[in-house]
Amino acid sequence: MKKQYAVILLLAFGTSLAVANSLEQAPVPEPSPEPEAVAERLPPKLRKFLKKEMHLLAEAGRTMEAALAEGDSKTVEDLAKRMHESFIMKQELTTMDLRELKVIVGEDFVTRDKAFHGMAAELSLAAKAGDVVLQQEIFGNMIRVCAACHVAYAPKASVLE
Ligand code: HEC
Repeated sequence: MKKQYAVILLLAFGTSLAVANSLEQAPVPEPSPEPEAVAERLPPKLRKFLKKEMHLLAEAGRTMEAALAEGDSKTVEDLAKRMHESFIMKQELTTMDLRELKVIVGEDFVTRDKAFHGMAAELSLAAKAGDVVLQQEIFGNMIRVCAACHVAYAPKASVLE
């Protein structure tokens, strides 16, 4: 009898710890058990936003690739700036949505997303400076960040096609 009571207490304690954790600013620390299914765990609204962002990224990436081939730094600059400031993260989601998103996708995902947006900022600066070689290099690295995140979280998703 006593033992059972202790177990229940322990469970209750564990649950309140978990709740406290999820209310923290930082997202849950452990990687999710099935990271490749992360998008499937999002509520429909958030998944829709993620998909929309991904399509915008892919479209911008393709246009950028063509602009790079033509040495059109101005187009690269504008698109990279939009990628950096983009898309869902700051504009269309409320703070609560963002919190929920972070709790579901986890810290590693958010870190990758930040790295990606940081590279877009670097790319827009390189384009502004008209440095074609640097633009090619950063663009290549950026696409690798897209692909690496897909390998971890969406292995079936394409990148630029
Ligand atoms: C931080 C992780 C992450 C980064 C960085 C990332 N993606 Fe994605 N991407 C995802 C996830 C997760 C999905 C799966 C979305 C789903 O199934 O709802 C996805 C899906 C996609 C899709 C398919 C969308 C669909 O309708 O199924 C495309 C296209 C795409 N990404 C392009 C890109 C491009 C281009 C970049 C870089 C410029 C990029 N992604 C960077 C995580 C990422």
